[in-house]
Amino acid sequence: PASPSAETSHGALDVLVEGLRRLEYRGYDSAGVAVVADGAIGHRKKAGKLANLEEELRRDPLPASATGIGHTRWATHGGPTDLNAHPHVVDGGRLAVIHNGIIENFAELKQELAEKGHAFTSETDTEVAAALLAETYNDLGDQDLVAAVQATARRLEGAFTILAVHVDHPGRVVAARRNSPLVLGLGEGENFLGSDVSGFIDHTRRAVELGQDQVVSITAEGYEITDFEGRPAEGKPFEVLWDAAAAEKGGFPSFMEKEINEQPMAVEQTLMGRTDPEGNLVLDELKIDESVLRAVDKIVVVACGTAAYAGQVARYAIEHWCRIPTEVELAHEFRYRDPIVDERTLVVALSQSGETMDTLMAVRHAQEQGAKVVAICNTNGSTIPREADAALYTHAGPEIAVASTKAFLAQITAAYLLGLYLAQLRGNKYKDEIAGILAELEAMPAKIQAVIDTQDQVKSLAQQMKDAASVLFLGRHVGYPVALEGALKLKEIAYIHAEGFAAGELKHGPIALIEEGQPVFVIVPSPRGRDSLHAKVVSNIQEIRARGAVTIVIAEEGDEAVADYANHVFRVPQAPTLLQPLLATVPLQIFACELATAKGYDVDQPRNLAKSVTVE
Ligand code: G6P
Repeated sequence: PASPSAETSHGALDVLVEGLRRLEYRGYDSAGVAVVADGAIGHRKKAGKLANLEEELRRDPLPASATGIGHTRWATHGGPTDLNAHPHVVDGGRLAVIHNGIIENFAELKQELAEKGHAFTSETDTEVAAALLAETYNDLGDQDLVAAVQATARRLEGAFTILAVHVDHPGRVVAARRNSPLVLGLGEGENFLGSDVSGFIDHTRRAVELGQDQVVSITAEGYEITDFEGRPAEGKPFEVLWDAAAAEKGGFPSFMEKEINEQPMAVEQTLMGRTDPEGNLVLDELKIDESVLRAVDKIVVVACGTAAYAGQVARYAIEHWCRIPTEVELAHEFRYRDPIVDERTLVVALSQSGETMDTLMAVRHAQEQGAKVVAICNTNGSTIPREADAALYTHAGPEIAVASTKAFLAQITAAYLLGLYLAQLRGNKYKDEIAGILAELEAMPAKIQAVIDTQDQVKSLAQQMKDAASVLFLGRHVGYPVALEGALKLKEIAYIHAEGFAAGELKHGPIALIEEGQPVFVIVPSPRGRDSLHAKVVSNIQEIRARGAVTIVIAEEGDEAVADYANHVFRVPQAPTLLQPLLATVPLQIFACELATAKGYDVDQPRNLAKSVTVE
């Protein structure tokens, strides 16, 4: 809401549509807005991308207003149709509600409300919440929207953020949150609520984190936070470090391309300010007692999607440097297998958004068993770092494209720092190597830039391969998660069947897939590394080449051994094996992005996906 006297001249609608544009990456199968004007609620909603809603608003404009709510949807209950889009307007047009999350007891509530005569027009759980709120508001009888939201929130189970506007309260938006994200933005004569700060970053950088099970009511002049029982509660103020320009494409054709190109900076900023003048690693944010960190006897890394592959890289590095047994597991699998964790386990949760529900649930489960949790996260004010015992932020800047790129490199970088820090703290045999490894890390941004500088070569191959039906990726050691990530990128944005394999596993199955013309990317480790890793991978290239594969090899500069067996070679600068993922991933990202673009797909908003999966 904005007060009419606010110096800012924008109406609510402009703010809403612009905010939705910035948040569209979270879900984009339908969008809608509602405003309160002239004693009535006006709303428009459309299936498909935001452009459809904008078109509808041009065709059939809404009246000017200072107060409104807007939503982009990623369908859970009910398909992406106009009718299922939010807001849901109920009670004869008096109340409008938007919602993120899943209301687990919606079926019971729906039946209860149906018995009382409520008719439902959509298949969503949201409409049930809206109807319950309307019923509660009317039953209370004293026109107290805040009390009605509190009472409704007490009856809802599952995960939700709910925002409501009511004709009786034209300048007010009331929200409740449990498990789903919500942040408050404080402007001059105007205030905002958003799933994340990008929603209002154009208007203010002063924000307030809301806690679990809180209700917040905002007007142009102020805000009030309570718990679900109505007792006063506090939020946590913070300053948003990103500026609005960081969330713009800045001349690139897509956010993904921009973010790939920002990777040197993402890694550099993640490394920045983390050493003292003597060259020791300082992680001030790691607010876990040093004695606890010294006593850790097991590390479990939990994450989903790309972040889980960053976790796999982290395992190789942390185990090697710290000599602490380290597991990495998909958060949703970890959570439901009765994992063995205790006070001596350190759980590392990797999440760009800090909102992935599966990862959040894994964090909570680990804490219940007594484990300490460190979050490695890119988003200030998000839930996972707030609930974790300590948070190590990556400073990649806002990542908008659904397929993660710069956040991946930044997560890996932060995980290296954590590993080196634990090694330093525990004083093991690698202690003396830390300074050297840190220096190598400091050199990575320039090396990543060198890989980016060769992107034309990768792009031209991507264009040639645009009609490939399937692409395979092979890697060993840290090259294995790189292979998995390369395949994931291609699946996500180019919709091509792609698989990553551990190169050593080739003979145990995947080699049967090799036939004439099958493209296979191979990530080759440094020939200067230990354990004849390099020779093993070179043999793997020969084996598939002999069976007709088209081999696309990512190898270090100066590695001539691969040349004879490679149909295509992409060079990356020399680096220690453990750090190589920061380089070898980059051509794979560029390849996927270019190939998807060549196919005419929207690389920033691939079908069916959402950037923050805030439901389990
Ligand atoms: C979704 C996104 C992926 C991302 C994963 C984990 O599936 O589409 O790109 O890697 O969530 O996200 P997080 O925010 O926890 O890193």
